[in-house]
Amino acid sequence: MIKHEIKIAFTEYNSLAELDTADQIICREAVKAMEHSHSPYSKFKVGAALLLESGKVIRGSNQENAAYPSGLCAERTALFNWGANHPDDPIQTIAITAHTDNFDILKPVTPCGSCLQVMAEYEKKQGAPLKIILYCIDGPVWVTTGVASFLPFMFFEERLVAQ
Ligand code: THU
Repeated sequence: MIKHEIKIAFTEYNSLAELDTADQIICREAVKAMEHSHSPYSKFKVGAALLLESGKVIRGSNQENAAYPSGLCAERTALFNWGANHPDDPIQTIAITAHTDNFDILKPVTPCGSCLQVMAEYEKKQGAPLKIILYCIDGPVWVTTGVASFLPFMFFEERLVAQ
């Protein structure tokens, strides 16, 4: 029998002010992205912003639907926009934030497994890791590079793409 242990690594900052200017700007873009959140059911707004190598910013927000499973998370809204429209302009950073009037959010909101899996796919596609910034408004900020930190058991099978 072998017992395995996996360590993950991320950096915590006390507030947005501790980040460098570029990272602060992309976090603020994630906040702006929440303006177009369509979340009448959960009342939980999520915003995601991608900073591309060219400097272009892509915003995404959660889009809910009366047929609940038809909705989509903010991260995938932004990431699929990138895949459909800007696949040759590598993603450097994704910033994610959330807000609800219903309760206080005191720590960063972490992306769901499906969104992390989509980040993993695009890291492979572009051949470079993403800087992932989880921004809690008026709270701490968690930063890591490479989705493996948050999804060590991401699914990927080289032989599916090699054929
Ligand atoms: N949501 C996201 O947009 N991103 C995540 O990573 C987790 C959850 C959205 C989906 C739904 O609209 C709302 O948050 C409540 O689950």
